[in-house]
Amino acid sequence: MVDLEGKVALITGGARGQGAAEARLFVARGAKVVITDVLTDEGRALAESLGGAARFVRHDVTDDDDWNAAIAVALGEFGGLHALVNNAAIYTRKPLVDTEPEEFDRILRVNLTGAFRGIRAAVTPMVQAGGGSIVNISSQAGLEGLRSHSAYGSSKWGLRGLTKMAAMELGPQGIRVNSVHPGPIATPMIPQLTTGPGSYPTLPLQRTGLPEDVAELVAFLASDAAAYITGAEVSVDGGLSAGKFFVPNVIES
Ligand SMILES: NC(=O)c1ccc[n+]([C@@H]2O[C@H](COP(=O)([O-])OP(=O)(O)OC[C@H]3O[C@@H](n4cnc5c(N)ncnc54)[C@H](O)[C@@H]3O)[C@@H](O)[C@H]2O)c1
Repeated sequence: MVDLEGKVALITGGARGQGAAEARLFVARGAKVVITDVLTDEGRALAESLGGAARFVRHDVTDDDDWNAAIAVALGEFGGLHALVNNAAIYTRKPLVDTEPEEFDRILRVNLTGAFRGIRAAVTPMVQAGGGSIVNISSQAGLEGLRSHSAYGSSKWGLRGLTKMAAMELGPQGIRVNSVHPGPIATPMIPQLTTGPGSYPTLPLQRTGLPEDVAELVAFLASDAAAYITGAEVSVDGGLSAGKFFVPNVIES
């Protein structure tokens, strides 16, 4: 079991979905967590349910002042910052020609530039803490093409690339940077997903992923157990990115 005792983590988009599962798991493994989101009611309720080990901060990842305020809570309330999970994102699915440039920009501003702002803000406190771990939540849509995902997919490919660039620059300062690539995960982002055995028959593991499936990986990457892992991209997707599970039988005579 991954040990996060003594770690202080900031998780963006942590009011619900995967971020909330990560906050619960981090606290269960001994970490102190600053949960941030634009969803104030959900975020506050989650932090209260976790007791003294968690705080909620209203934080829009597109705003540098919000970043500074959120990190100040980690430093002021918990005495440092060891892990940053860039999890906040918005999703859209529509044909490229129907995607307005303004919408494309908005998706990049939250999903990619938001994480970039976070990395910039986290470096100094992490160096002061003696090193740290940054986990960027990309997507299967950041590993391959996905129809009708030009804006979202570009943001997730960008985040995967930013992960590599940041790992190069920040490794010498003791900061590891990795990307996580979830497949279909049952959260409010894609409400039509169902769960349970057989819920996703076109995957090798045959089911939709749960937020807790992703949280285990994120906790591992945030922990000292992953001390020699940086610049990596790790899938948690039921086998989606491993290959084609169903091959169309078009050549059978
Ligand atoms: N659900 C999936 O199938 C899936 C698949 C691959 C990757 N992902 C990624 O996983 C991460 C978590 O998503 P989720 O599935 O939990 O979805 P979610 O919609 O439940 O959670 C995303 C959170 O980000 C917050 N957020 C949005 N804009 C924000 C902003 N400007 N500032 C701060 N917070 C903001 C939302 O309020 C929400 O709480 C995202 O990066 C998402 O792109 C999800």
